Formats: sequence, structure tokens, C-alpha cells
Amino acid sequence: MIGTAREGRHISITGLGCHVPDRILANAELETMVNTSDEWIMERTGIRERRIAKPEEALTDIALPACRAALEDAGVAAGDIDLIVVATVTPDMMFPSTGALLADELGAPDAAAYDLSAGCTGFMYALAQAYGMLAGGLAQRALVVGGDVLSKILDWHDRSTVVLFGDGAGAVVLETVDEDGFLGFELGADGGGGMSLWLPNSGSRAGEANGRATVQMNGREVFKFATRILVHSAETILARCGMTVDDVDLYVPHQANVRIIDHATKKLGFPSDRVVINVDRYGNTSSGSIPLALADAAADGRLKRGALVLMTGMGAGLTWGSALMRWTKETA
Ligand code: ACO
Repeated sequence: MIGTAREGRHISITGLGCHVPDRILANAELETMVNTSDEWIMERTGIRERRIAKPEEALTDIALPACRAALEDAGVAAGDIDLIVVATVTPDMMFPSTGALLADELGAPDAAAYDLSAGCTGFMYALAQAYGMLAGGLAQRALVVGGDVLSKILDWHDRSTVVLFGDGAGAVVLETVDEDGFLGFELGADGGGGMSLWLPNSGSRAGEANGRATVQMNGREVFKFATRILVHSAETILARCGMTVDDVDLYVPHQANVRIIDHATKKLGFPSDRVVINVDRYGNTSSGSIPLALADAAADGRLKRGALVLMTGMGAGLTWGSALMRWTKETA
């Protein structure tokens, strides 16, 4: 799917918030848990540490502070939100949805609220969906949440996955603005490659007497897919919007692995000062990754009003998605 913004409709991110659990799990501690080393993890992934939820913490506990921060940043009351989309593969439970639970906790009784599953690309899918509902006039103010608690679905004996992931969530408020905002989206899915990254025993195909569902991954296949699709999706959306890499002020790729990001950055031709990287501190937080990266860029002053921002996610499905936007919010 690819499309550009509707003529005359300007929709943008007017508030941004994020939250991560307090507990830091550094590579040195992982060395005591599985047969790995800080050196191996840094060399292959660039990840130094990640945040891990407490046993009693679920997605709503992590997403709620992010939502509150985004609403405050936008100056919007929860009661004025009429759409909540939560991108996640780790909802509190299959139903009720985390969206419905968050609507209740926040006090947004008039909001349509639901969860969306598109792996690590979830936040990009959710942004596009909320954009479409606002552009079509169905909704006025949306809260888009991306968050995952992947630590709950890892096999903590599997060194090939535990080193990669972390927990975290981000949220943004989408509203109509006078000018600029989203310029276009490109989204895709390839179920044929889906079994490169999957969660067996987690749905209606689960057999009886199967154990706990844990993430399974063919790392090399995912690596090949990720490096190819980051470049392809970025080039495709830029071309559709009549822009080039030189026009982009800030590139915000999904934070899976520094090697994947470096590969895409070089291939696309971005200088490193225009690329947001925080995977070293958070690992791969799945749907939380892009909003967490946006929040970091806002905090360090790189996300400025008027900046052309390119975000690209990719992940389980296999799925991918890009959004191109002209940032409209003044940031400190
Ligand atoms: N510590 C030490 N050794 C390890 C570890 C570990 N944590 N994990 C694997 N190894 C070993 C393997 O067993 C293998 O040993 P062997 O040669 O004796 O068989 C060796 O390291 C090399 O393994 P590879 O899988 O070939 O290592 P590779 O260089 O491909 O790196 C990695 C693995 C980091 C997972 C890489 O394939 C990758 O980044 N893939 C993408 C995965 C990803 O980002 N997934 C995120 C979710 S999807 C998404 O967000 C897009």
C-alpha cells in the first residue's frame, strides 16, 4: 500500500510521550544468564543494555505513562480523544484489548479503541490507520500507541534472542493542523517470509499440551530481509512524495540492530548526524522503537519544527512500513 496525503488535509503529531521500565539489564548481567559475551553482543548488534518489565508489569502499565505524557505534550484532554490504536504483539491479554483498557484508565469513554498486530512495524501501521481515519473525517483526535513487553515471550535460555530485545512504549497524539504534517505512507507484508520470525503455540494453531509461547527467529533471514526492506521502503516513499534523501532532515529507522541501521544508512546515503540511534540503550522494543527514537530526537533537539522526518519500521509478518512527514511541533 502506498499513498500521499490528501490535498488540503494536514494531519500531524501534536504530542509525544514514552516510557520504559526502570530495570536495566546490561550485557554483563546477560553473560551470567546465557553463554554470551558483551563483546559478541556489541559487535553483532550494538546493544549495550535494555529495559525489562517486572513480573507484575504488563503493557498497560508501561503504555499508560507514555499516553499521559503524549496527551500533556499535546495539551489534549483524554476525554477529547475519539480513537485509540495500540500497536503491539504483547497485549495484557488477547481480550479485552489493551486499547480498551487504556481508554478506560485514561478516561476516554468516547474513543474507539483496539489493538493492531504488525510485529515491530505495528507503530507505522497504526500511524497510517489513524491518519486515514482523521483524513476521512471519522475521527478528530487520535492516540497512537506503540509498545511491547517482549521480555514476557522470550525463552530466557535462548542466547540468540534474549540479547536482542527490550521493553518499552511510546505514544503520539494525531490531530488536524494548519499546514504540513504527514506527506505519505508505504506499508507492506510478506507472509511467505513469516516463519523467519514467529511465535508458535500462541494462537488458534496451538495444539494441546504445547508449552509456553516463545519467540523463534532465523536471525540471518531476518537480517537479510531487514537490510533490503529498510532501503526499498525508504526509496519508494521518497520517490512517491517527490523527495530525495538529501531533503530528509531526520531518519528514524526501527531500532533492531546497529548493523542493520548502519547498512541502510550507508546504502541510502544518510550522514550519521541525520540518523537516530538508541538501540544501544533499549535493544529492540518492537512497536515501541520508533516512538522511543522520536522522543530521544526531540529531547536532544534534533526534532525541530519544519524538519522532514522519515520513519521506517520492519518486523514480524514479515511486515514493513514508512511514513514521511514535515514535523509541525515546536520542541524545546
Ligand atoms: N552470544 C554468543 N554467540 C551467539 C549468540 C550470543 N548471544 N547468539 C548466537 N551466537 C552464535 C551462534 O550460535 C553461532 O555460532 P556457531 O558459528 O558456532 O554456530 C554464531 O554466534 C554466529 O551466529 P549467527 O546467527 O550466524 O550470527 P549473526 O552474525 O547472523 O548475528 C544476529 C546474529 C545478531 C541475530 C543477526 O542475525 C541479526 O541481527 N539478525 C536480525 C535479527 C533481528 O534484528 N531481529 C529482530 C526482530 S525483527 C525486526 O525487528 C526486524
